[in-house]
Amino acid sequence: MQAQKEIIEKLKSEVFEFRANSSEELEKFRIRFLGAKNILKDLYGEIKNIPNEHKKDFGVLMNDLKQLAEAKFEEFKTLKEEKSSAQTKPDLSLPVENFEGSRHPISIVQNKIIDIFGEIGFDVSEAQEIEDDWHNFSALNLPADHPARDMQDTFFVNQNPDWMLRTHTSSVQVRLMEHTQPPIRSIMPGRVYRNETISARAHCYFHQVEGLYIAEKVSFVDLKQTLYYFVKRFFGDHVKVRFRPSYFPFTEPSAEMDIDCQICGGSGCSVCKQSGWVEILGCGMVHPNVLTNCKIDAEKYSGFAFGMGIERLTMLKYQINDLRLFSENDVRFLRQFSGA
Ligand code: DAH
Repeated sequence: MQAQKEIIEKLKSEVFEFRANSSEELEKFRIRFLGAKNILKDLYGEIKNIPNEHKKDFGVLMNDLKQLAEAKFEEFKTLKEEKSSAQTKPDLSLPVENFEGSRHPISIVQNKIIDIFGEIGFDVSEAQEIEDDWHNFSALNLPADHPARDMQDTFFVNQNPDWMLRTHTSSVQVRLMEHTQPPIRSIMPGRVYRNETISARAHCYFHQVEGLYIAEKVSFVDLKQTLYYFVKRFFGDHVKVRFRPSYFPFTEPSAEMDIDCQICGGSGCSVCKQSGWVEILGCGMVHPNVLTNCKIDAEKYSGFAFGMGIERLTMLKYQINDLRLFSENDVRFLRQFSGA
């Protein structure tokens, strides 16, 4: 029995120390310990040479060895399976080949606007979409009973007149001025909301980019030159521009800027309502009341502001005639921008 015991112990330590570095090694192990002609079978044959009183002990030792070998095999088999399934799982950190998606046209145009104003020193400011009355209206020279509040149909939050979805990104101008002393040169892209019936020409939400430049001795000439620079970079040198006097409570004087219709070339179509011109932005010199409301010295500083709708610019640039296309997520529409 002693001799058999020694052999079993030796095999046990062999099994115990076994490590499979490859599937070939694991297969060799399986054949040796668990295969049809495995080494344990020969050893079991030894039972006839064992005295009866030791036969039981021998059986226990042999069973231990067999269980050990089976457990070892299972251990490396699962490791191997995990490894191969890891190889078939996608590696999300790899760079993308054949990218299927495309940027939304609104994002493409917004990024382009940010780039163009970046070239002339404007940085980007953002703020929240749920605003209080002060930042959306009052600070912008629109006190509670001001009739110009009706120019923008407002969504109030829980019907509370103090909280609303911002109707324009002018609220970001207020927040910026409250925290920054001039010189300020920044643009404010973002989503805005108005309680309007959805149609080809209107939506309950859309996107704006506003701009603000405040320093000493800023004049209307600076405003015009900045906006000329922008439209020429955005639409090309051929674009024709005109300013019309207008009214906004937060600017004085105020103007609107039109460009010649990029869809019909100025000859007249439904987009330009047969006029040949399309309004693309509102602008003006920041009203001194607004500067004072935001703790900026209106005697020392002056500035200009402007605001434009990104959807309008995108429609003109890509000849899109229905505003609803931007929010329907129809891939046949979106795919057309994959190269842009
Ligand atoms: N906030 C205006 C609107 O939503 C657009 C606008 C006009 C913004 C003139 C300005 C501005 O900053 O100076 O219709």
